[in-house]
Amino acid sequence: MGCLVSSELPPILVGNPGAQNAGRKAEILAAVARVLDQNRYINGPEVAAFERDFATFLGTADAVGVANGTEALALALRAVGVGAGDEVLTVANAGAPIPAAIRMAGAVPRYVDTEPRHHTMDPTALAAALGPRTKAVLVVHLYGHPAAIDAIVAAAGRVPVVEDCAQAHGARWRGRRAGSFGAASAFSFYPTKNLGAVGDGGLVATNDPQVAAMLRNLREYGWDAERRSIARGWNSRLDEMQAAILRLKLRDLDADNARRRAIAAHYRAGLGNSAVRPLDSEPAAEPVHHLFVVEIARRDALLAHLKAQGVLGGIHYAFPVHTMEPWRPEVPVALPNTERACARVVSLPMYPELTADEVDRVIAAVRGFAP
Ligand SMILES: Cc1ncc(COP(=O)(O)O)c(C=O)c1O
Repeated sequence: MGCLVSSELPPILVGNPGAQNAGRKAEILAAVARVLDQNRYINGPEVAAFERDFATFLGTADAVGVANGTEALALALRAVGVGAGDEVLTVANAGAPIPAAIRMAGAVPRYVDTEPRHHTMDPTALAAALGPRTKAVLVVHLYGHPAAIDAIVAAAGRVPVVEDCAQAHGARWRGRRAGSFGAASAFSFYPTKNLGAVGDGGLVATNDPQVAAMLRNLREYGWDAERRSIARGWNSRLDEMQAAILRLKLRDLDADNARRRAIAAHYRAGLGNSAVRPLDSEPAAEPVHHLFVVEIARRDALLAHLKAQGVLGGIHYAFPVHTMEPWRPEVPVALPNTERACARVVSLPMYPELTADEVDRVIAAVRGFAP
């Protein structure tokens, strides 16, 4: 049989939950069978065990499973005291779930700019934007790189900080896990995430027992133990099947993240003096590379070139949310770093099961692009 040329090889995807689930199929099916045998489907032993395991993993006092990452953010905001008409300070480069969650909580988003090195919230811009209406700060640990969370918590002062960890399961900042710094932190288990369910799932972690108790009310119509509503909640439950699967995948999360870091190092070594500039990493950070993001001015031309080479890049995210009608702030705002970043980012393939040959193919494809 002759050698396959790159155009005959299967395309390399930007993310690939199928590769991970295929390798764990027998374990996943056993977890599903256990749930069926237990005959408990909602808020049963698997959710309780996963909540304990995840809180231990993060180093937080508690964790509360919910239906998805967007609702995790909305419920976290509600649980730390955000309500109708309050202002939440956040970033505009992390997609629609962020303003959607703020609106679900009844609040209004106000956007602050990002810093240019890794596109997370600029603590100085945050300090300048805080005002009397600000009831929370929603910070996103984007692409798996923690924001400067200690500076952000310090700048926020008495205003509670909610961490969006949907892209940062297991990342560390100065040795502590992202998601253990703020008043509450929200996680998504969307299938492509570093810890992915086989469907939707989410969780809020917190060190504050009152916030945890409120979250357990809010995720089921605001019910207390006797099913009397004591707050305006809704239905946002993690189910037993997803919790059982997440529990088994959690055991491999640190190893999967280490593999992502090895792939990132391989990319960095291979992409020196190429047409793209990989985002920087802070010495204080141990990132988990949910995405491997590079910047380039001629983005569309690069993506077309990569596609022709069998490499499917992505864009996270092309349109900053402050420019979209449903998510516009009350007062128009200029966010030069955010706008520049959204026009230039490209995500290269990144998932733990990528082989060294595939990483080399991606590097060769990028290096073959004439800027
Ligand atoms: C940064 C960020 N926040 C929130 C979410 C929302 O998570 P979900 O899709 O589980 O609602 C996502 C995932 O799409 C995300 O990437």
